[in-house]
Amino acid sequence: MAERQLIGVVGGGQMGSGIAQLAAVAGFHVLLYDSNADVLVRANSSISSSIRRLVSKGQLSQSASDDAMKNLKFAQNLEDFRDADVIIEAIVESEVVKKTLFLELDKIAKVSAILASNTSSISITRLASTTSRPSQVIGMHFMNPPPIMKLIEIIRGADTSDAVYATVKSLAERLGKTVICSQDYPGFIVNRILMPMINEAFYTLYTGVATKEDIDTGMKLGTNHPMGPLELADFIGLDVCLSIMNVLHEGLGDSKYSPCPLLVQYVDAGRLGRKKGIGVYSYQKEPAKLKP
Ligand code: NAI
Repeated sequence: MAERQLIGVVGGGQMGSGIAQLAAVAGFHVLLYDSNADVLVRANSSISSSIRRLVSKGQLSQSASDDAMKNLKFAQNLEDFRDADVIIEAIVESEVVKKTLFLELDKIAKVSAILASNTSSISITRLASTTSRPSQVIGMHFMNPPPIMKLIEIIRGADTSDAVYATVKSLAERLGKTVICSQDYPGFIVNRILMPMINEAFYTLYTGVATKEDIDTGMKLGTNHPMGPLELADFIGLDVCLSIMNVLHEGLGDSKYSPCPLLVQYVDAGRLGRKKGIGVYSYQKEPAKLKP
């Protein structure tokens, strides 16, 4: 990927901002865009404070941190992606919205550009079918948070070329990640296995088998998971979990993937997890207490 230096990232939420940070620290020029300008303001401050933390922990030198911040630019609109070599989409987990974006990116991006999706579960083949370059469309599924997690799952659509796969694999390795390769089926590898477990944790809570704390403690101490499934769901975002369960349910046609009504209800109520301050657990700070 020596000749591919400019990475565009579309979507500046928790995944897009993490991917942009990772690529900027790794020495790529990065252009980050979100349709919500406030998100970009928040992304800028979260990336700079995260990079400062790396410096204070001795994991990054001051000059490498300055370089990373110089590598990162914010796009005003999608037209700014015309010179990008690889564009990584990390917007909302909706097939309709992603397809619209791929259609637009295909018109703007240069002919040689690769269009990658960070989707957790949506068909790469279907996203690719909206473009005139299906051989250059691929799944590049980062784990959350992208700067820390060691894995990238690469998904080959029906028409993804060997050359594009090799380029994206080498990009992932330059970002310091281990790569696994999945065929293009709902949920790929990681979420095909992880999400039914999270959904089952919701059913365990919903049917009154145990408290949320005991479910999470059971899986942490009983199976050595670093986070309990409900805590992890809040971290991922309950809306993202629900979208993935819907993709598994519709795509694999088995009732065992039916989303738990409690997960659906939380999403309907806007309890989306950490990003909203409330999900299965509450993350809202206690109101300040008056001194006696
Ligand atoms: P998020 O909700 O934090 O961020 C999504 C961002 O996309 C928002 O800032 C929104 O303003 C922006 N957006 C929506 N439509 C847009 C458009 N048409 N153009 C430009 N920006 C647009 O979501 P998150 O968690 O960052 O997820 C993004 C993608 O990454 C999803 O496909 C999700 O499935 C995937 N993913 C999420 C993981 C997680 O743990 N949350 C892990 C791995 C992948």
